[in-house]
Amino acid sequence: MCGIFAYLNYRVPRTRKEIFETLIKGLQRLEYRGYDSAGVAIDGNNNEDKERFIKLVKKRGKVKALEEELYKQDDLDSKADFETHFGIAHTRWATHGVPSAINSHPQRSDKSNEFVVIHNGIITNYKDLRKFLESKGYEFESETDTETIPKLIKYMYDNRESEDTSFSALVERVIQQLEGAFALVFKSIHYPGEAVATRRGSPLLIGVRSKYKLSTDQIPVLYRTCKLINPNVKNMCNSRLKRLDSSTCLHAVGDKAVEFFFASDASAIIEHTNRVIFLEDDDIAAVTDGKLSIHRLERSASDDPSRAIQTLQMELQQIMKGNFSAFMQKEIFEQPESVVNTMRGRVNFESSTVLLGGLKDHLKEIRRCRRLIIIGCGTSYHAAVATRQVLEELTELPVMVELASDFLDRNTPVFRDDVCFFISQSGETADTLMALRYCKERRALTVGITNTVGSSISRETDCGVHINAGPEIGVASTKAYTSQFVSLVMFGLMMSEDRISLQKRRQEIISGLKSLPEMIKEVLSLDEKIHDLALELYKQRSLLVMGRGYNYATCLEGALKIKEITYMHSEGILAGELKHGPLALIDKQMPVIMVIMKDPCFTKCQNALQQVTARQGRPIILCSKEDTESSKFAYKTIELPHTVDCLQGVLSVIPLQLLSFHLAVLRGYDVDFPRNLAKSVTVE
Ligand code: F6R
Repeated sequence: MCGIFAYLNYRVPRTRKEIFETLIKGLQRLEYRGYDSAGVAIDGNNNEDKERFIKLVKKRGKVKALEEELYKQDDLDSKADFETHFGIAHTRWATHGVPSAINSHPQRSDKSNEFVVIHNGIITNYKDLRKFLESKGYEFESETDTETIPKLIKYMYDNRESEDTSFSALVERVIQQLEGAFALVFKSIHYPGEAVATRRGSPLLIGVRSKYKLSTDQIPVLYRTCKLINPNVKNMCNSRLKRLDSSTCLHAVGDKAVEFFFASDASAIIEHTNRVIFLEDDDIAAVTDGKLSIHRLERSASDDPSRAIQTLQMELQQIMKGNFSAFMQKEIFEQPESVVNTMRGRVNFESSTVLLGGLKDHLKEIRRCRRLIIIGCGTSYHAAVATRQVLEELTELPVMVELASDFLDRNTPVFRDDVCFFISQSGETADTLMALRYCKERRALTVGITNTVGSSISRETDCGVHINAGPEIGVASTKAYTSQFVSLVMFGLMMSEDRISLQKRRQEIISGLKSLPEMIKEVLSLDEKIHDLALELYKQRSLLVMGRGYNYATCLEGALKIKEITYMHSEGILAGELKHGPLALIDKQMPVIMVIMKDPCFTKCQNALQQVTARQGRPIILCSKEDTESSKFAYKTIELPHTVDCLQGVLSVIPLQLLSFHLAVLRGYDVDFPRNLAKSVTVE
């Protein structure tokens, strides 16, 4: 999906080369989101030139190709110095119009690039806007919805009432006309060294880096407006607090040197600063003379405009590949630690208690509810399927699991005594977010289970659980799945804490959680064996994955991993459905993986196995180490450590994650950037 990165250096001298490097690095950090073209807008003039102009460089393909193109520009002296400069950059994932330089961003207002803009999201009323602007004589050059935005701001500028109209006032007028979802960053030759950014329904954050020390006068302003939580500053503030007006200005940076980083994703900012402000819908953030101010769109003006400066906990090394050949591989191998991080401080193995801080104040309400509805897309949905049975058992409530898109299509009835869970790694998936807003309108209690602090879903839900899996960069979700799984199980355990009849079961599950990291390590040690299996399978066109009960979700998730990164046809089949159709696919040639674990479905799975072998099928079986029965019928077996039935899915999915990875590598595909897919799906 598209990525935004922009960099403003105010009174911090930088050569053009340094500015290029910062912009390109920013885009590289966003590459994992998936994209097909990239572009930048920078000042075209050198310091000594009187004429100002903006230079656009755009290219179809990888950021690397854009970087090469930048250095080929004869009119851009890379040694030129800029004390103050604002550059914007973008990776585009085509929605309106083919991937091409002309359709990529920044989009411009006119041939002299008076206004340029980068955009994430979709403008749904762009056809009407385009018609209007064309009727006023504006000529369009791309097929994008985005191009209406720079044209519209130029129209506002050409028709402004006063010479003093500010850049942010123009942007405010523009976004009043826009429908749809957007995160936008604007640059203009009429407002040199200034930046304006805004969002609605698409994430945007601003990183601030300054070496500035607070003066006595500025402390209260900063405290009031940014709710700084550093205890030293707070103490100083308390003793000197003055009455302040309500405008949200970060005056504290005054006339001093400062740098601002705008991005759709924290991973592009973290190497520069960990001090960030997450913008809210309809915020308009402007930097003028090195000062950042944030105000609300007029119609939202009554909302509290203060925005907290947050400190990102992410480390750069967390998002680097390390010794692995792909982020996906690194993330698969991180699972022994990521599940520990999910449980850390929450599961007390001594007292056998579980406390999810984000939910504890709502527990009574949840216990009283009519039903739980768990909503997500793709892998996140599979985490709900995987834990449904244990949640039904531990909460003693009806549990519905829903694909967000289908849930919305059906106008599913939701009531105020429902509790709705929204599972999302990114916290930005458009369908899940729309479903959340739908449930909020119906006054249900909403719970977010996300991996991204500050994401839309985590902010808009009433309460939630952060899964703490660490940044997931590979497009194919792996460690987020196992952490979502563990989070939902922890929720079930917390709900059942005082149910006497469930104590034995709870104890068994908590012990299972304790040994999970070691067992994951054991499964990961099968990597070489799985690689050998991939060598046998990688030329196949199809791969079926079959199972039932607790492991049905493993089949769905394994098949999704295989299809998304290997481009093979793969289906997750409920073994109970075999006779109702899928059995017709089975023959000597068709590769079938069967997940057969020592759980309540073991005997039924054995029946399915016999049906497959009776049709000359040659199943590869994922089974428990101590299972001697299944291996008799297997073409090959992958033997897994045995854990409690409801946690077995955390282990059984890992061989399929590894298999999909090796198949994709052997087939010669880019594992981290599968074709046509994006990490964060912020359009419906
Ligand atoms: C598959 C995958 C997707 C996502 C889905 C939801 O590997 O990553 O199926 O799970 O797009 O994304 P989130 O969890 O960010 O809402």
